[in-house]
Amino acid sequence: MKKIIPARRTDNITYAIRDIVVLANEVAKSGKEMLYLNIGDPNLFDFAPPKHMIEVTYNSMLKNYNGYAPSSGIKPALASIEKEAERKGIKNIQDIFITSGASEAIDICLTSLVNEGENVLTPTPGYPLYTAIASKLRNHENPYYLDENNGWQPGIEDIKSKINEKTKAIIIINPNNPTGSNCSVETLKQIIELAKEHNLVIFSDEIYDKLLFEGGTHTSIASLDSEVSVVTFGGLSKNYMVPGFRIGWGIVSGDKNILSDFIEAINKLLRARLSANHPEQYAIPAALDGDQSHLVVANKKLTSRRDLTVKTFNEIPGTSCIKPEGAFYAFPQLHMNQPDNHFVAELLKETGVVVVPGSGFGQVPGTQHFRVVFLPPEEILEKAYSKIADFAEKYFEKFEAAVK
Ligand SMILES: Cc1ncc(COP(=O)(O)O)c(C=O)c1O
Repeated sequence: MKKIIPARRTDNITYAIRDIVVLANEVAKSGKEMLYLNIGDPNLFDFAPPKHMIEVTYNSMLKNYNGYAPSSGIKPALASIEKEAERKGIKNIQDIFITSGASEAIDICLTSLVNEGENVLTPTPGYPLYTAIASKLRNHENPYYLDENNGWQPGIEDIKSKINEKTKAIIIINPNNPTGSNCSVETLKQIIELAKEHNLVIFSDEIYDKLLFEGGTHTSIASLDSEVSVVTFGGLSKNYMVPGFRIGWGIVSGDKNILSDFIEAINKLLRARLSANHPEQYAIPAALDGDQSHLVVANKKLTSRRDLTVKTFNEIPGTSCIKPEGAFYAFPQLHMNQPDNHFVAELLKETGVVVVPGSGFGQVPGTQHFRVVFLPPEEILEKAYSKIADFAEKYFEKFEAAVK
């Protein structure tokens, strides 16, 4: 019998955040104590969703809302998302749809817009789902860089230089995974100008928009211009601590005439895949219109964990760290000549600390980083960081990885 050959479109798909787990599982088998700082799942640590979201979901199951939902989502949930978008200042809303996590909304929107050989400007470093989808769709990747010397803001000149006749869209991840940066209004306005000039759709991934430190504020790019074409992605996974519910959404805003065919293409795909999880959609109004006090507690915890992280990686010789403003990730630089995936693999084998190599998110060639998830409580972070500090000292010496 001949081997089954998978489709070539899967050849280049990688997802570093979970790929590292293969090695971690091997190391764990040896009995080593493991410290996982690789997956952005708040529920693994001391975070939980508001109880009223669980109650309403459970009750919707008891009421036997266990069948398919409408393809775009249930009405009360769509109404709550619309109200929330209006609270954020988004005008000219043309369509809203609920999906299996923001992930599905992102996949459906890119699939509906971009042909093979066309390209989408993708933030680098950025969330690897976007590059995985680009591989699947056989689009050409068009990475633009976030500027580490400017608090990881998107590099506008770099974006300008990379727009070509095959460019269909620009993605922003705001707040960003893996750097935690929050786009300034000035940067957003410049992106809008470019999008309008080149007729690009802006995909704005705002899945972390309520996880901001020290009372920082978030601006939705769609709120700054009612004519530009934007799809804003959001969801319950991070802000409301239910990534396992798999509930996300997309909000299309801008000029109706310009967007109508694209919206119809999105809806064809939405119908073809039937619906998102039904009972969990009842948690959307409960979340968005309900008590928000869990966010105060979460942001307080995350602020002190962020501070500990930034302090640590600015103290360890050979590492430096830009202060994240939101989400729960930091992206310290390793000032060395060795590849970061080697550092991360050796760290894991030697200490049991699991982080993700910067190469898994994309980065300026020649620079090395790693992503750390600072969701765990301080005592776990302190333990992990002291192991990283001891390891880094030995590593830099052993591999003569000249500290730049
Ligand atoms: C930037 C970003 N977008 C989207 C997602 C996926 O979100 P969801 O759980 O809603 O599919 C993640 C998950 O880590 C993320 O970091």
